[in-house]
Amino acid sequence: MVNHPLAQSRLTAMREAGTEPGSFRAALHELTTMLVYEAARAFPIERYPIETPVAPTEGTRLANPPLLVPVLRAGLGMADATLALLPESSMGFVGLARDEETFEPRAYLESLPADLAGIPVLVLDPMLATGGSLEHCCRLLADRGCTDITVICVLAAPEGIARLERSGLPLRLVTASIDQELNEKMYIVPGLGDAGDRQFGGM
Ligand code: PRP
Ligand code: URA
Repeated sequence: MVNHPLAQSRLTAMREAGTEPGSFRAALHELTTMLVYEAARAFPIERYPIETPVAPTEGTRLANPPLLVPVLRAGLGMADATLALLPESSMGFVGLARDEETFEPRAYLESLPADLAGIPVLVLDPMLATGGSLEHCCRLLADRGCTDITVICVLAAPEGIARLERSGLPLRLVTASIDQELNEKMYIVPGLGDAGDRQFGGM
């Protein structure tokens, strides 16, 4: 959980129903920067020799930059901020749309490297509701040999967290809030509504 006051103020802007799409996207961009910054504390580094204008010394860099995987559509709004912090990373894409009757994810895009053994992955999706979408995405990664998944989301419902825990997938979750519950339409309460529509408009 990232409880930083600046993160919570961006989350508040995203929750407010009157926030326009442009301001919503800006708040998501800034909040993503903070969530990824916190997640990256756990990334291993390596040391290497550098020269300052004054003297030789030792520098550091990420030992193994992660593959970034935004879950379309809503995760697209987290991609730029993450790539700005991790410019050495590559990006794959997973496209999922939740069926609004069964609440199960329907996959429409899978653009991922065939072999993810030894590659850490950062999954970007603002919403963890029932957990069906993130479980599906993380299973695609695990099926390709990934054993190190970090999921970055803005809001998580307890039901979704429990589902990911039960899945046994090799992941950790970084979020700005664990909300109360899901309603009968499987929306997060109090939540922020439909994260895709709030960024890009209804389809
Ligand atoms: C949203 C969200 C997650 C999913 C969460 O996407 O971005 O991917 O719902 O719900 P779940 O945990 O119950 O699976 P949605 O399917 O609405 O598609 P969109 O990103 O295109 O709006
Ligand atoms: N997807 C969203 O965008 N919002 C929710 O509250 C649940 C699923």
